[in-house]
Amino acid sequence: MEQPILKMKNICKTFNGIPVLKDVNFSVKKGEVHALMGGNGAGKSTLMKILTGVYTADSGDIQIEGKPVTIKSYEEAQKNNISMIFQEFSLIPTLTVAQNIYLTREKKTSLGLLDDKDCEKKTEKLLEELGVDIKPTDIVQNLGVGYWQMTEIAKALSQEAKILIMDEPTSSLTKNETEILFSFINKLKAKGYSIIYISHRMDEIFEICDRITILRDGRYITTETCSETNLDTVIQHIVGMEFDQAFEWKERYYSREAEPVFEVKNLNAGKIQDINLRIQPGEIVGIAGLMGSGRTELLRSLFGIDPIDSGDIYVNGQKQSIKNARNAIDAGLALIPEDRRMQGLVLEHSVKDNMILPILSKVKKGTFIDNKKSNEISKDFVRKLNIKTDNIFKQARLLSGGNQQKIVLAKWLANDPTVLMLDEPTIGVDIGAKTEIVEIIREMAETGKAILVVSSELPELLALSDRVVVMHDGKIKKEMTRKEIKTEEELQYAIQGF
Ligand SMILES: Nc1ncnc2c1ncn2[C@@H]1O[C@H](COP(=O)(O)OP(=O)(O)OP(=O)(O)O)[C@@H](O)[C@H]1O
Ligand SMILES: [Mg+2]
Repeated sequence: MEQPILKMKNICKTFNGIPVLKDVNFSVKKGEVHALMGGNGAGKSTLMKILTGVYTADSGDIQIEGKPVTIKSYEEAQKNNISMIFQEFSLIPTLTVAQNIYLTREKKTSLGLLDDKDCEKKTEKLLEELGVDIKPTDIVQNLGVGYWQMTEIAKALSQEAKILIMDEPTSSLTKNETEILFSFINKLKAKGYSIIYISHRMDEIFEICDRITILRDGRYITTETCSETNLDTVIQHIVGMEFDQAFEWKERYYSREAEPVFEVKNLNAGKIQDINLRIQPGEIVGIAGLMGSGRTELLRSLFGIDPIDSGDIYVNGQKQSIKNARNAIDAGLALIPEDRRMQGLVLEHSVKDNMILPILSKVKKGTFIDNKKSNEISKDFVRKLNIKTDNIFKQARLLSGGNQQKIVLAKWLANDPTVLMLDEPTIGVDIGAKTEIVEIIREMAETGKAILVVSSELPELLALSDRVVVMHDGKIKKEMTRKEIKTEEELQYAIQGF
C-alpha cells in the first residue's frame, strides 16, 4: 500500500489536566482532500495546532512520508512542508499580491530596497502554474475575499508546502467564490498536493473530499471513504447517535392583525434602498439573497452601525431615532453579527463575563454584581446551547471556534430584546447545535418578539421563517409567505432570478 504522506499516531493532549485529544490517529495520502470532522470542541483545531507546532502533544508520533518528525514551531511545520491557510488572513491588504507572497523573504536590491520586479516575476509564474486569474501587481484589498484565500494558498505553495490545512475556508465566501476555490482545490489535488479540510458544511464535504476522519469528544472515531459512505452515517458518527438533521417547518400562529412590533418605512442607507418591512409579534422574517445583495448592510443600518440617509423605524408603534448601536439597544433591538469573533466577543474575558456584559444592569445588586444570579444565567445558557467549556469562568479565547459563536448568541439572547436580528446565526456551529439554535430562535418568537434572520443556508432559513423577503442590489425584490415556498429549489431560483 502507498505510504501516507502524513501519519499522526496516538496523539494525546490535555489542557490543565483536562484531556482534549485521546489517542487520536489521523493519516493523509498524497493528492487527497481529507476532511477532518466533528462537533464543536471535538478537537479538530487542536490536532491541527499540534501538526503546525502551535501546541506540542503530550504523547504520540507524527510521521511525514514514513519518517518521524518533531514539530515544535510553525517554522518547523513549514520545513516539513506543512502550511496552514489561516482563517483570519495573514495578508497585508495594502500591499500587492507579489509583495504579500514574498513578504518576509523578499530579495533586496543592491540598495537594500525590495526587489519588486523579481517577486513579481516569480509570482507571475506561480499564479500561472496554479491557473489563478489575478496579477502579481494587484493590490490585495481590491480583490474579492476568494482571491485573498488563493493568494494565501499561493504563498504557502511558494514556501514548498505539500500539505495544506484549511480550517473552515468557505465561511466568508460567496457561492461563486466557493466554486472557484473548489475548482482550485481540485487542481491542487491533481498536482499531488494533500489538503486537510475542516468544515461543518456537509454538502461541501461530499463535493470536495475523498476521505473523512471523524473525531468525537477528542477521540478518533473512524475514517470513511466518501464514495462508499453517506450523509446519515457521517452525521451519526459525528453526533454519536442516530440523528435526524432535517429541519422541519411547522406553521406557527402569530397574530396577523396585531400592531407590528417592528416597522421600517422607506429606509435608505448607502446601497440600501427603499426598504419597507412590518414584523408582527411572534413573526420570523427571513432575508434571502446572494452575498453582496445588501442583507448584512440592511441589518447594520437598522442597528445604527451604518448611517441611515432617510426613512423611519418604529418599535411597538414608537418612532425611534437610531444613530448608533447604543440607541438601537435602548430601542430594544439586538443584532447578532455575522463576524462574531471579531465583533461580538471579548476574547480575554470569561464565558460568563461575555454573556452578562449586555445585561449588567439586570444582574446588579446595588453597585455590585449579583454573582449567584449572573452565574445561574450563564450556566443556563451553557446548558441550553450545549457550550463545551470546563466551567463558566474559562476565558473565551480558550474555547473552540463554534463554542465561541454560541457565547455571542447567548450574550444577545440574555438581553431579551424586543426585535432580534441575526446574521448567519449558525455559521461555524456543528449540526447538532444548528438544530438547537433554530429551536431557540423559534422559542424566542413564541414570546412575541419580532425576528429578522439572514441566512445563506436555505434549509435553515426555510425551517425558521414565517415569511421570506429576497434582496437584490440593496432592494427587496420579492416577498413570499413560507407556505408559498414549496421547495428549497424554488427559493434558490427566486434568489438567483434577478
Ligand atoms: N489553550 C487551551 N486551553 C484550554 N482548553 C483548550 C485550549 N485550546 C482548546 N481547548 C479546548 O479543547 C477542546 C477542543 O477544541 P478545538 O478548538 O480543538 O475544537 P474544534 O473541534 O476545532 O471545534 P470547532 O468546530 O468549534 O472549531 C475545546 O473544549 C476547547 O475548549
Ligand atoms: Mg476549530
